[in-house]
Parts: sequence; structure tokens; C-alpha cells
Amino acid sequence: MVRLMPSLLSADFANLQAAIESVPSADALHVDVMDNHFVPNLTLGLPVFESIRAATPVMLDVHLMIEDPDRWAPAYAEAGAESVTFHVEAAAAPVRLARELRGRGARASMALKPATPIEPYADLLPELDMVLIMTVEPGFGGQKFLDLCLPKIERTRALLDKVGGDVWLQVDGGVSAETVERCAAAGVDSFVAGSSVFGADDPDAMVAELRRLALAAAG
Ligand code: DX5
Ligand code: ZN
Repeated sequence: MVRLMPSLLSADFANLQAAIESVPSADALHVDVMDNHFVPNLTLGLPVFESIRAATPVMLDVHLMIEDPDRWAPAYAEAGAESVTFHVEAAAAPVRLARELRGRGARASMALKPATPIEPYADLLPELDMVLIMTVEPGFGGQKFLDLCLPKIERTRALLDKVGGDVWLQVDGGVSAETVERCAAAGVDSFVAGSSVFGADDPDAMVAELRRLALAAAG
């Protein structure tokens, strides 16, 4: 099972409707929320998210790169996000937060920056529906994929296999036709791709190509 989740960060923010319609084969749309504190960039918040929600029935995968997700994340679940990802570096009480997200009907997801190890959070995995391993430092699209994250992806895959259940493993950052195969081979099932998709002449054809490469490499 492979899921492709184009990141709207690389789309035209003045025409998100067109961007949404340009990737009909996407499994979900990835929505990056940045607060200019947790990361040195600012994107969009709840009002814009609500407009995106109203514009499409497709699964929305919200990635919160914000401080104090304990306070702000549940509102995205209430606004209809199927999946809400918080950064564990920013969460005061990740277990409580994950339970609040699930309680509001969303998948609960935890993200790790490149320098954050997975091992201290191994016991939390049953509380989660997805783990996001960042493969760039969060904050900007179009950065180079960090190969140093691959061993952590493999270790996370092994931990998730041990836990069982249906916890998705996602990567975000620098995912392209050049890097998607090594992620799939390391055990990733959910792929965020921003610049490679929305920078392509035909975004939906790139989604199909990434899916083809990932499926082949997943073996
Ligand atoms: C970056 C964001 C990503 C971003 C990825 O911090 O979380 O979702 O859109 O962009 P690319 O795919 O261009 O690296
Ligand atoms: Zn993201």
C-alpha cells in the first residue's frame, strides 16, 4: 500500500482550487501550517484550512509546524481534517494530544525533525495512526532530501512492525523521482511531495510516476 500526498505548500496560494483539481489521483492533500516560531516561516491557519476543507472531499493531512500544538491542533480535527500531525518536539503532552485528536475523529500523527530519535517514543506508537519522519529541516519546500534520515526510517519501520496495527509511516521533504525509491525500500508507505509534484508540467502524472516507483521499490 502506497499513498501519495502532494503538499499544497508548493502550489499557487492564490489559486488553491486549481491546485487541488490538478492532482485528482492524490490519496490526500498535505496542508503545512507554520507559525513563524516553531519554524522560520509562516503559511496559513484555521480560516484558510476551513476554506480548503469546503473546497474538496479528498483526505486532508494537516502538518502542524507550530508551537503549542496541545492548544491548537484539536481545532483542525474539529474542522474536518482526517489526519492531524503535531511535532513531538513542540508537544507538552503527546499522549493526551493524540487521544484528543482521535476523540475528535481524526487520525493522530506525530512528526520528528531530522535530529529527533524515534526510540524515546517507542511506547507511544499504539497511541498513533501515523509517524512522520521529516527528511529535511521543516520550514520550506524545495530542500534537498537528507539521506541521513534513512536509518531512522528503517528503525521506525521495525518498531511499527513489532507494535502491529495500522500505523502509517510518512516522509516529508525532498521526496522526488530521485529519492522516493529509497524511502519505499526503507519501509515508508505515505509520501508527501511538494515541489516535485507542483513544479512538474503535469502534477498528476508526477503523482502517478512517484506511485509507480514507490510500489516497485517497496517490493
Ligand atoms: C516543509 C514541509 C513540506 C514541504 C515539502 O517543511 O513540511 O511539506 O511542502 O516540500 P518538498 O517536497 O518540496 O521538499
Ligand atoms: Zn509538511
